[in-house]
Amino acid sequence: MEDRKQITFNVLCFNPEVDEKAYFKSYDVVLEKGITVLRALNYIKDHVDQTLTHRFFCQAGICGSCAIRINGVSKLACTTQVWDELETCKTKDQIIVEPLNNFKVIRDLVVDIDPMIAKLKKYKSWVVPMVKDEDLGKKECDVKPEEFEPINAATDCILCASCYSECTITEADRHYISPLVILRAYRMNMDTRDTAGEERTRLLQEDHGIWDCTHCYRCVEACVKNIPIMEAIQGVRHETFERGMTNTAGARHAKIFLDDVKGGGRLKEATLPLRTLGPIGMIGMIPFALKMGAKGRVPPIFPHKVSTHREVKTLVEQVEKESKKKD
Ligand code: SF4
Ligand code: SF4
Ligand code: FES
Repeated sequence: MEDRKQITFNVLCFNPEVDEKAYFKSYDVVLEKGITVLRALNYIKDHVDQTLTHRFFCQAGICGSCAIRINGVSKLACTTQVWDELETCKTKDQIIVEPLNNFKVIRDLVVDIDPMIAKLKKYKSWVVPMVKDEDLGKKECDVKPEEFEPINAATDCILCASCYSECTITEADRHYISPLVILRAYRMNMDTRDTAGEERTRLLQEDHGIWDCTHCYRCVEACVKNIPIMEAIQGVRHETFERGMTNTAGARHAKIFLDDVKGGGRLKEATLPLRTLGPIGMIGMIPFALKMGAKGRVPPIFPHKVSTHREVKTLVEQVEKESKKKD
């Protein structure tokens, strides 16, 4: 590939003061290999269109403020090489730049992150120390290396919101807690200085919380710091059981999955909603069940046993044993 070439940036622009809806503006610029998308956008703003609006600060992958969607994927503009993106262009040498998903656009590539901040506040995304306010700063509250290890990866989060933008449930339900807020909550719950674990976990297991995640892994794939977000989600779910918070549809659902796998090795889908929601909760499901029935999507009433059931059962028992040892 050449080291200098003309590249087109198709940027989704929107100015709420004059535009009814967002539209793509195209900028043709000649760039050299080695330039990041952020520097390319700065070049366009400085030399082509001063109205182009985007957000950035550290330019070093630390502050998280420059996250945008580049060729359909949420990532940091300041650490993304233009030449790497040329390999994923749908149309040769044309890069598509859009604001993050799941946020209201303030202007062009700048989105309103207030709802995300409100969620961070709602779920107490900070350490609530046992030290009294008046004693803070007077005495050290140290964390030993072995205590820090379990939260090491989670502390890398820079709140860039790339995972928030890619989350399929956040797209469907704007009240959903979001992957990054679960990650933060997990990190705080595991912090040995924190005292708000019980209260935070109670909030996390309520509606729009941890049980709504569908394990699509989009957040994990999008994380700009390669943080294993799913481990945090599973960690918080595990904690609800440890704290005896099992009276939610999500917790019952998880328990039924485990019991079915241990039982016959296969999920008993026909009775799953009834066992999860109970008879009263099922009333709301009737229209959905009828719709599925009309489409011929009826789960088997007596599922066959899985031939490798014994091996699966042994695996589950091993995992349970290991998990008890860790506790
Ligand atoms: S795995 Fe869960 S939190 Fe992550 S993107 Fe999918 S639904 Fe959202
Ligand atoms: S978890 Fe990853 S993608 Fe999500 S906000 Fe933190 S650093 Fe960004
Ligand atoms: S400008 Fe700070 S992470 Fe990109």
